[in-house]
Amino acid sequence: AVDLGPSPAGTDFVAVAPNTDDAVTVPEGYEQEVVIRWGDKVLPDAPEFDIDDQTAAAQEKQFGFNNDFAGLLPVDGVPNTYLLVVNHEYTTEPFMFAGYDEENPTEEQVRIGIANHGLSVVQVKGESGSGRLTPEFGEYNRRITGTTEFFVTGPAAGSDLLKTTADPTGTRVAGTFNNCAGGVTPWGTVLSGEENFNQYFANAETVTDAVGAERLARYGIEGGESDRKWERFDPRFDIAAEPNEVNRFGWVVEIDPFDATSTPVKHTALGRFKHEAANIHVTDDGTVVAYSGDDERFDYMYKFVSSRKMQDGNSRAATAHNMTLLDAGTLYVAALEGDNPDAIDGSGDLPEGGAFTGTGTWIPLLRTGDDGTGESLVEGMSAEEVAVFTRLAGDKVGATKMDRPEDFEANPVSGKVYVALTNNTKRGVDGGAAADEANPRNDNKNGQVLEIDDDHAGTSFTWNLLLVCGDPSTADTYFGGFDKSQVSPISCPDNLAFDPHGNLWISTDGNALGSNDGLFAVVLDGPRRGETKQFLTVPIGAETCGPIVEDNRVVVCVQHPGETDDASWDSPGSHWPDGGDSQPRPSVVAAWKSDGGRIGV
Ligand code: FEO
Ligand code: CA
Ligand code: CA
Ligand code: CA
Repeated sequence: AVDLGPSPAGTDFVAVAPNTDDAVTVPEGYEQEVVIRWGDKVLPDAPEFDIDDQTAAAQEKQFGFNNDFAGLLPVDGVPNTYLLVVNHEYTTEPFMFAGYDEENPTEEQVRIGIANHGLSVVQVKGESGSGRLTPEFGEYNRRITGTTEFFVTGPAAGSDLLKTTADPTGTRVAGTFNNCAGGVTPWGTVLSGEENFNQYFANAETVTDAVGAERLARYGIEGGESDRKWERFDPRFDIAAEPNEVNRFGWVVEIDPFDATSTPVKHTALGRFKHEAANIHVTDDGTVVAYSGDDERFDYMYKFVSSRKMQDGNSRAATAHNMTLLDAGTLYVAALEGDNPDAIDGSGDLPEGGAFTGTGTWIPLLRTGDDGTGESLVEGMSAEEVAVFTRLAGDKVGATKMDRPEDFEANPVSGKVYVALTNNTKRGVDGGAAADEANPRNDNKNGQVLEIDDDHAGTSFTWNLLLVCGDPSTADTYFGGFDKSQVSPISCPDNLAFDPHGNLWISTDGNALGSNDGLFAVVLDGPRRGETKQFLTVPIGAETCGPIVEDNRVVVCVQHPGETDDASWDSPGSHWPDGGDSQPRPSVVAAWKSDGGRIGV
């Protein structure tokens, strides 16, 4: 056998075996600990969490439900101190309240649900010799919820499409919902994607004009009552009463965590869709490129290229300027072409040459000028319409229908860009778009990872599939050409991160192979390219989110532990993290090497 040499720095650990344990499991020689759980205090005057006696007032000061994205930003001048910024994607009321009646939620339960959404900013303290993080009450600690005020910027700000009874200006929105993944910007703020916002709105069938109905349908906004029935207590969630409120969600929002009194922003120049996240790459001349996937089966990949340049440093003046970078520039959608279209039959078999490869074009949709005015680049749509109904613009220009584009992120070491394509069981099924080279499997249960060589500020790229995920013993999987007998099985790639060495780390959501979700390291360069090793597994029913991989620490968010098909309040699917007969609680976890050493070295 060829000697491939040792695993590269960052990936030298003994892989964790797939399992179905109700625990967080890390490699031998590593340890892990919960940092913060649903209900823990964020603000000093928060009451102790009591799962049987929750109030909205308490929850507005406590850590929200279902942590997803996490960012860790060093606090200047305070050693070993960080702001942990976390998204709270959604609530699952039957697992939050004893005796919850899905048909008749109480008003207080609704208010608690709204307060459990949004983000948390929590100061955390590190310690020497371990990766442990301990929450503190710092000046920046903050809860952002479904009622916090946001400013709207960009071409849809002030549009008639955004005006409501409560906000006749169309520029101030109450709250943010379904914040899934996100990214820390190089200028020290956090971007967060409003993803499945459709589920909060009721009575879409009352919109009967064809254009309005088509727009709602394209965004998955359904008729009748919403699952949580918030519309009973807050008319903004009732489309019959407030037809434009729904247009005020589905954006990329930006939070300045270093000013607890700042008003966060919704950047409409980046378009409105089910934003998984937005992640920034800065080119040599300071141009900022924001990559963002629309996480839906058969939806699109987007990027925004700024016309303004980033200012260096983190002075308040530089931050103020840099928070306008996403308000002027051009929004594009991706069209991909395979190099071997005739070889793709939906089986996942590799084409001749042994890899899925191709080229691509960024199609411009919307140009936003320095004054925030939009210019539509799509025939038959106004600039405001492109901003608010971006999916319809992508449809018109023939963007490529992808298998659920989730995290979309540039590698800070190499500049190459990666996209997690989670799965698509409708690919090639019942009239669903046929397989193509970038989405090469019909009934795709396990997903794939796309690697892009992008001309970041330009309009062309080349691509290949780094991973075609699944059980490595099956023919329809591919691990960058690496020996498949030597890799960890991986299924449903969702969030991406890079370690300081430039390796790719992938967290998974919905493992279709029967084991729990987890976090994996993937080698990108050299003879071990494609080597995939599981670093961590999460408890029963949980997905792994928000990975952060630092030199001496890994952080993950354990989202929806216990959320299995047959779980209920009386029969929880998990008792993690508190054990005994406790209800499961979504929590953030830190892991580190027992000797305090470097991760994977
Ligand atoms: Fe909220 Fe696309 O995962
Ligand atoms: Ca996700
Ligand atoms: Ca990420
Ligand atoms: Ca997910």
